[in-house]
Amino acid sequence: NTVSAHKEPPKMPGAWPLLGHMLEFGKNPFAYMTKLRNSLGEIGEFRMFHQKMVLLTGPEANEAFFRAPDAQLDQSQAYKIMTPIFGKGVVFDAPPHKKDQQLKMLMPVLRDKPMRGYAQVIVQEVEQMIADWGETGEIDLLEFMKELTIYTSSHCLLGDEFRYELNEEFAKIYHDLEKGVNPLAFVFPYLPLPVFRRRDKARARLQALVTGIIAKRAQKAEKSEDAFQMLIDAQYDDGSRLTPHEITGMLIGTIFAGHHTTAGTAAWTLLELARRPEYMHAVLAELDAQFGVDGEVTFQALREIPLLENVIKEVLRLHPPLIFLIRKVMQDFHFKDYTVKAGKYVCASPRVSHRIAEVFPEPEKFDPDRYSDTRQEDAKPFSWIAFGGGKHKCSGNAFAMLQLKAIFSILLRRYTFELIDAADNYQDDFTQMVVQPVSPCRVRYLKRVAIEESAGESLRNDSQETAHAGPGFRIIIDRELCQGHATCMAEAPELFKVDAAGNLTVLQENPPLDLLAKARQAEKYCPSKAIKIDLN
Ligand code: HEM
Repeated sequence: NTVSAHKEPPKMPGAWPLLGHMLEFGKNPFAYMTKLRNSLGEIGEFRMFHQKMVLLTGPEANEAFFRAPDAQLDQSQAYKIMTPIFGKGVVFDAPPHKKDQQLKMLMPVLRDKPMRGYAQVIVQEVEQMIADWGETGEIDLLEFMKELTIYTSSHCLLGDEFRYELNEEFAKIYHDLEKGVNPLAFVFPYLPLPVFRRRDKARARLQALVTGIIAKRAQKAEKSEDAFQMLIDAQYDDGSRLTPHEITGMLIGTIFAGHHTTAGTAAWTLLELARRPEYMHAVLAELDAQFGVDGEVTFQALREIPLLENVIKEVLRLHPPLIFLIRKVMQDFHFKDYTVKAGKYVCASPRVSHRIAEVFPEPEKFDPDRYSDTRQEDAKPFSWIAFGGGKHKCSGNAFAMLQLKAIFSILLRRYTFELIDAADNYQDDFTQMVVQPVSPCRVRYLKRVAIEESAGESLRNDSQETAHAGPGFRIIIDRELCQGHATCMAEAPELFKVDAAGNLTVLQENPPLDLLAKARQAEKYCPSKAIKIDLN
């Protein structure tokens, strides 16, 4: 941000009149962005029609992108297409101060405490999905994961009424809302097309149902504990409440944000494991050791499954469902010697940034060991960005990881999986906004005959650091990154307090070393990566 930052970003050659680079970008955005990075480096400009887009890649450029304030880089333009579905005045369509408060009201829903209840619900849904599977069969893995994750997220977020009493009607509403996501909505969101009409009817019906449930719940003595209830009870700074219109939009927005992203990641995790028997066996051994044959899959037990976690992380590195994130430049944006003028757009690309050899050596290789304590290839801030970063980092990231771990803790202990088609046939589909494996994505399941009974003690016990007494250590908080998930408070209540509004207080500035193990857990599990532990 200095006066010397004056150069225009270098430009990609070969722009067509009117179209710019749209044809090549549209054909395969990942291939095009990789080409841009290879020819221009960490900052480079291309054109989508008349619109100038600047792609930023690599940890340093990512950091500049994610740390920029909203007033400089604005997210809402990129989500305009969703306004008819989420609703006018809801989150990205709301004025900034209102948007911030609404996003903040969503945080308690995705915080550590309700997560314990969600774990049970997710486990129950997975069990139900496979209850009639029998010995062997074939499934379209992506379809299976999409169905499963819509049940898990609607059950956790919308609650029992939608999951049980209104299940079929909700499925139809959701279908019509999904079909209404159409690039045309960027330009003509309310064109009188049948898909848009069905979308608007579905949105109105959902709001009527939500309004009905709010009224019914108000009559009941005992309170529900789902996300829906938390939004009913939430308040703006001035004490006013969310309207049914806003609650409907926030719930549907949260379900949309988490549905295809989680389903695609779940499908890819199983595909990558099925391609690599050595990792499949190692993950199975880990799960068997953690849960045994009939071990209950609880929130606590799901917290630490290091190999499965690293496998999922590696899947998200190679197949991040969101391959580029967009912001509109509202005030000139500076990066190193370059200035991006207001009016242009800037993008970050998790997919391209994750395949830079200087950051992740042999980037094409599937190697979950990259994240081991000895290698820590993702240690550099803003190098691994599947969930974004900074203030707008995915607030559902802990929920997504919990879901993924719970799904595999059940599925893999009950069944083994084989690919039906040649391994190379399973590819990413770049034609969709959320990138997932190409459909159909067929796999065969076979019941696992015997699991080595209680293959060992819980891995958690082995991996816990032993407590030391002696001089202390320092806790450093990056306030810009903290989103108030309160995971730290669950891990180390002696050290951290997060109030209802999400504000963090560190209770001991220089704690004794016997709290180091707990503090390290808090550092490791902070969904926003806002905690650093510094040994004196
Ligand atoms: C934002 C990825 C699952 C809720 C984001 C962003 C990314 C992302 C990259 C940042 C977007 C940007 O900077 O423009 C993912 C991935 C997921 C996942 C890869 C699964 C593997 C979920 C789930 C939920 C969720 C399960 C909710 C239940 C949100 C919300 C935001 C967000 C509310 C907006 C945060 C804000 O702007 O403050 N997600 N997400 N996501 N995600 Fe996720």
